[in-house]
Amino acid sequence: MSKKLFIETLGCAMNVRDTEHMIAELNQKEPYELTEELSQADLIIINTCSVREKPVAKLFSEIGLFNKHKKEGAKIGVAGCTASHLGEEIIKRAPSVDFVLGARNVSKITQVVDKKHAVEVSTDYDESTYAFGEYRTNPFKAMVNISIGCDKSCTFCIVPHTRGDEISIPSDLLVQEITKAVDSGAKEVMLLGQNVNNYGRRFGSSDEKIDFTGLLQKISKIEGLERIRFTSPHPLHMDDAFLEEFASNPKICKQIHVPLQSGSTALLKAMKRGYSKEWFLNRCEKIRTLCPEATISTDIIVGFPGESESDFEDTMDVLEKVRFEQMFSFKYSPRPYTEAAEFENQIDDAIAGERLSRLQKRHTQILDEIMDAQLGVVHKVYFDELKPGNRAAGRSDDGKLVFVEGSEELLGKIVDVQITKTSRGALDGVVITE
Ligand code: 5AD
Ligand code: SF4
Repeated sequence: MSKKLFIETLGCAMNVRDTEHMIAELNQKEPYELTEELSQADLIIINTCSVREKPVAKLFSEIGLFNKHKKEGAKIGVAGCTASHLGEEIIKRAPSVDFVLGARNVSKITQVVDKKHAVEVSTDYDESTYAFGEYRTNPFKAMVNISIGCDKSCTFCIVPHTRGDEISIPSDLLVQEITKAVDSGAKEVMLLGQNVNNYGRRFGSSDEKIDFTGLLQKISKIEGLERIRFTSPHPLHMDDAFLEEFASNPKICKQIHVPLQSGSTALLKAMKRGYSKEWFLNRCEKIRTLCPEATISTDIIVGFPGESESDFEDTMDVLEKVRFEQMFSFKYSPRPYTEAAEFENQIDDAIAGERLSRLQKRHTQILDEIMDAQLGVVHKVYFDELKPGNRAAGRSDDGKLVFVEGSEELLGKIVDVQITKTSRGALDGVVITE
């Protein structure tokens, strides 16, 4: 009988892909069956995020809980970014943890799984040409890491510390991986990187010369691949050539994440983001001009050290001007190994909380207007999931979640859907062609 694996994934899309890689590697060693019942698992893995403080605090209470409810002899492993930055300390604080595996050491899962108190957290390790086994949660949509690590030094962000320097994966390997996924039924690929449009900056062993625009052109030649998405790009690297490729390449989905962080040029400088409010607005205007159908999403941090009322008004102003279709907003959270955690002008939590709710309230109004205007619109929807009650779910080219009545026959198909009902988070529609 195969062993059972319970795996919890927190954080970003790269963690989701790391989880798939761990499952694939484990399965190459011996068969594992995934379970959602903790008490049945032989192996429990928590794939952690450390970008904000909350999930880190949650980790230790969760380990305690898992330890109490796990079956006798089951192992607990901690993987991901918190594993990278706390390392051995995790085992010191929670001796019930059997192994610790850093975000840049995923390929070593089979080496640590049977070694009591193994810790593998090196951030110099180069996995960029490692041939991971095959495992995809959803066969219709393939996530593919195109680079690992991050070379930026945004003063709020712990990621360069947990994932190390940036290394790109050679483009031929990417083409091979995507072609394989397409052959197994994926029409859509999601290219992943912490700073995805900085692709090609550095390779581990090859001396290839290619940038992100070149990679998009190369990947779009793959036959049978119909949709390309990517996350997360950096506004600084959104040059004209890249935006023109984004707008004109029919395989690239018209949804783009442009993480603002703050609308204030002074704060952007303190964050070491490398662009100004004007540059950000100029890039968004360029996207809207070249590609009016594109949706723009963003990340915003409020309450960054030194944020004045007028800095915050700059953020509100950018929201007003760009009208982001999606906004992920966070209260600044001081993180270890980051410059901003040492800044003296930290913001009072109540002020940050009040600004966050003001920002979210205004965004909700904008989102409602955007979604209300969707009534009657026809979208090409790629269906990839079935939901209870004879419903199928998919994404429009511009990234909206759409539900229709339907079953298996829709899966893996791109179909015209007319929107009949709107809400803030999703749309309902009817299939108008097959
Ligand atoms: N505090 C709050 N939000 C943060 N992010 C990254 N670091 C922090 C932090 N210290 C946010 C940024 C980033 C997103 C993934 O998480 O907005 O784009
Ligand atoms: Fe963090 Fe900045 Fe790198 Fe994004 S680009 S992962 S925010 S350091």
